[in-house]
Amino acid sequence: MGVVKANAYGHGLAETSRFLATRGVRIFLVANATEAEALLRAVPRAMALLAGPTVPGEIEWAVRRRGVIFALSDREELQRIERAAARAGATATIHLKVDTGMGRIGCRTEEAVQLFMEVARSHRVCAAGLFSHMARAEADPAECRRQLARLLQPVEELERQGLDVGALHIHNSAAVANLDPNGRLTYARPGLALYGLGEPAAAWRRRLGGEALRPALVWKTRVALIRDVPKGTAISYGGTFRAPRRMRVGVLAAGYADGVSRKLSNLGSVLVGGFRCPILGRVTMDMTMVDLSRVPDARWGDEAVLIGRQGGEEITAREIAEQIGTISYEVLCGIGVRVAREEGSTRSSRSRMRS
Ligand SMILES: Cc1ncc(COP(=O)(O)O)c(C=O)c1O
Repeated sequence: MGVVKANAYGHGLAETSRFLATRGVRIFLVANATEAEALLRAVPRAMALLAGPTVPGEIEWAVRRRGVIFALSDREELQRIERAAARAGATATIHLKVDTGMGRIGCRTEEAVQLFMEVARSHRVCAAGLFSHMARAEADPAECRRQLARLLQPVEELERQGLDVGALHIHNSAAVANLDPNGRLTYARPGLALYGLGEPAAAWRRRLGGEALRPALVWKTRVALIRDVPKGTAISYGGTFRAPRRMRVGVLAAGYADGVSRKLSNLGSVLVGGFRCPILGRVTMDMTMVDLSRVPDARWGDEAVLIGRQGGEEITAREIAEQIGTISYEVLCGIGVRVAREEGSTRSSRSRMRS
């Protein structure tokens, strides 16, 4: 199952889904109705499992839209879906979410058999699977195995009663990397690993094979202006950086509205001409200033790499995440909607990504 929620972890939902569909992926995990619609437009024959519960306004749409699968957590939600499906004259499909330890959504393991059977009796809702989500897959394989057992427990009971449980799935990337495959399961649901990243990358690479993890994304912008500033010049809002000498300053065509975290002010770097160029002063909404002193031949329009390789240097999402105290997921998801997503292309634009 291709996890393409959060705009495919910032990579571009439509582009990524279309690509995955050419590689045989038919079912995708999305966050909500907006993402499901974007997916189904990009890949009309796909199935879109909604990762979370629906909110008013979405449910009416979701029961009508072919290909949408609800994640069902409880009886109240079942009744809401049934009522919406009846009003629309439609049949909705669900995968029953079982909370095996994540503590977010889903029914308790003990409730799963009863709830699944209620769905099986429904004329408006069709039960097509059971699933759960790993809570500590990076750190605790023993807990992963316990979570898996808690998912399979109601499955055995339902099968004893003669029900077809449909699809079963629980593995996120870390579980794929850390656990042996389980033949009972229908899908794995990798997100981060799908995008070529690992937490920690080296360990996942050892488990998944050397070539399995290569970052799918390069995020670039352009040097939009170059200025030689005299010693003492204050750079950007608040003057938090003052040039200690005469300096070449590059103004990049990307700022926090594009996903360059403001926390990278006076802290992060970008790659220009194969060199690491420190960010000077505060990152602003649309522009970021960098020190081009090490790249005297930098020119207007040069590429500046925000995430990715250039020459022998590399900036990873993980490195940025560590600098600003978050995880690489948040760095990727934070890449803004105005950044053009381009698939494997080298065409230039103000700020763009190649994935
Ligand atoms: C329900 C569900 N499944 C799978 C994933 C994929 O997780 P990962 O990116 O760690 O593989 C997520 C991520 O948030 C999720 O919420």
